[in-house]
Amino acid sequence: MPSERTLILVKPDGVQRGLIGPIIGRFEQSGLKIIGLKIMQMDEETAGRHYAEHVDRPFFSGLIEFITSGPIVAMCVSGPNAIAHCRRLMGATNPQDAAPGTIRGDYATDIGRNITHGSANEEDAAREVSLFFDESELLSYHRATGPWIIEP
Ligand code: RTP
Ligand code: MG
Repeated sequence: MPSERTLILVKPDGVQRGLIGPIIGRFEQSGLKIIGLKIMQMDEETAGRHYAEHVDRPFFSGLIEFITSGPIVAMCVSGPNAIAHCRRLMGATNPQDAAPGTIRGDYATDIGRNITHGSANEEDAAREVSLFFDESELLSYHRATGPWIIEP
């Protein structure tokens, strides 16, 4: 399985609701590796670039207002098929469709307050990781538990 890197955000609703720890824990407990982590507040320019694909959608201005409204946590996660794996952990975009056991299924009820973001594909992941992290902020390290998580 190819090792991938993906960008995960705990959105402002997750931070305000005191869910940073539980949400980071979902990714950490899965065995995926956190290689970059920061708390920050997005400015409008970064938000516009991050969500550029949605610029013509009716929810775009509300989305930008929301995502810049308070601190977020940005995280770069790596592991086998990390992009799809993280999206499975998050569940469907609309929490009404998200299965119990997923982050959105367990913590959210509204599509506009769905707690997390995860890159959708390899191209988005590369672009989004570089939007939030300088390459020097991303670590390469071994965990003693590595062979207990991924068969060598
Ligand atoms: P995300 O980018 O946040 O990981 O979510 P996603 O890929 O599952 O969903 P996407 O289609 O990229 O939409 C980005 C975010 O926009 C908000 N949204 N609101 N009101 C609406 O109809 C609507 N549709 C999308 C959601 O917060 C979604 O996560
Ligand atoms: Mg998306």
